[in-house]
Amino acid sequence: MDVKAIRQQFPILDQEVNGHPLVYLDSSATSQKPLQVIEAVDAYYRQDNSNVHRGVHTLGTRATDKYEGAREKVRRFINAKSTAEVIFTRGTTTSINTVAYSYARANLKAGDEIVITPMEHHSNIIPWQQAAKATGATLKYIPLQDNGTFTLDDVRETITGNTKIVAVTHVSNVLGTVNPIKEVAQIAHQNGAVIVIDGAQGAPHMKIDVKEMDCDFYAFSGHKMCGPTGIGVLYGKKELLEDMEPVEFGGEMIDFVNLYDSTWKELPWKFEGGTPIIAGAIGLGAAIDFLNDVGLENITAHEQRLADYALENLRKIDGISIYGPEKRAALVTFNLDDVHPHDTATVLDAEGVAVRAGHHCAQPLMKWLDVVATARASFYLYNTEEDIDRLVDGLLKTKEYFGDVF
Ligand SMILES: Cc1ncc(COP(=O)(O)O)c(C=O)c1O
Repeated sequence: MDVKAIRQQFPILDQEVNGHPLVYLDSSATSQKPLQVIEAVDAYYRQDNSNVHRGVHTLGTRATDKYEGAREKVRRFINAKSTAEVIFTRGTTTSINTVAYSYARANLKAGDEIVITPMEHHSNIIPWQQAAKATGATLKYIPLQDNGTFTLDDVRETITGNTKIVAVTHVSNVLGTVNPIKEVAQIAHQNGAVIVIDGAQGAPHMKIDVKEMDCDFYAFSGHKMCGPTGIGVLYGKKELLEDMEPVEFGGEMIDFVNLYDSTWKELPWKFEGGTPIIAGAIGLGAAIDFLNDVGLENITAHEQRLADYALENLRKIDGISIYGPEKRAALVTFNLDDVHPHDTATVLDAEGVAVRAGHHCAQPLMKWLDVVATARASFYLYNTEEDIDRLVDGLLKTKEYFGDVF
């Protein structure tokens, strides 16, 4: 993989921040966008802008073809059976909420269980808390090991015949843990439950095969995988989606509207009420083309090298605490003893190094780690070992600056 050539595709990386060349280590929050994506969105607005599925005019046909073409690209990207299983949403949060509103509220009753883990992002906790409150179901947690993984024995112990929904993140945005989705899906299915995967940190970084994983729902966001903000995907098995009610009602999603009742379009459009996110979907399609050109296997391997290199070098810093397992996705969450992570991130920013500091939308996990917040460096296909060297140098400067606390 030619990282230098890849970097040239990302104009934003070619700038100085606070007098230093920018090192962007916050791709887990949102990734940068390659020219291919920027130009695809630009070309749509310049040449094809029109509403979809409506007019018979030429622009309308072009916009519809591009929008539906993007859906087919997503289908291939995740190996779904049919485009009926690919719903465009605003992102992971909306995708999970769609399942929690539509599937959970219709299928749960008092005494049923929803099983999740303490490593979930708020977007994969709160929708289930709310669904549990609305239906009388109980929320249960698969316990974590000290290194931030869970065992399949604990999964078997937690999921029971009363469990109706299991919702697990593919990759933890804090710990970097990569969860054994296929195995958890098997256990969920043996108990008659459906499994919902939060793929926000999975889809951008590794080959996704929803058929092979046998997940019932898979949610992800375009903006974390080189695409625009405001677009995401809910994959769902057709037989489940067919039985589900839409959560948004209005234009585009209807078949017939009478004075007192209405009928819905077929899948996937019954879940896409209102004018859809046309430019976003087209941009996501371009992002998928870009990722496919580089090769997901190459991206995963490159990120693995970066994660190993980062772990090896960060560990040499006295007073650093690193959270999460040895074998992990391309991110490292850490704290420097007694330095607040916001201070760490501020010193790093002064050095031109962008990292995230805070609770990472995972407050239950912060509690489990017994910290109020952490700093996080996350890597993507455009990052290099030199970026990590700059991070390490910045952290040594942070230590120097807050010297007396060590
Ligand atoms: C694991 C995980 N789940 C869900 C989300 C929410 O994604 P979005 O804000 O794009 O809906 C994120 C975003 O950081 C995430 O990291």
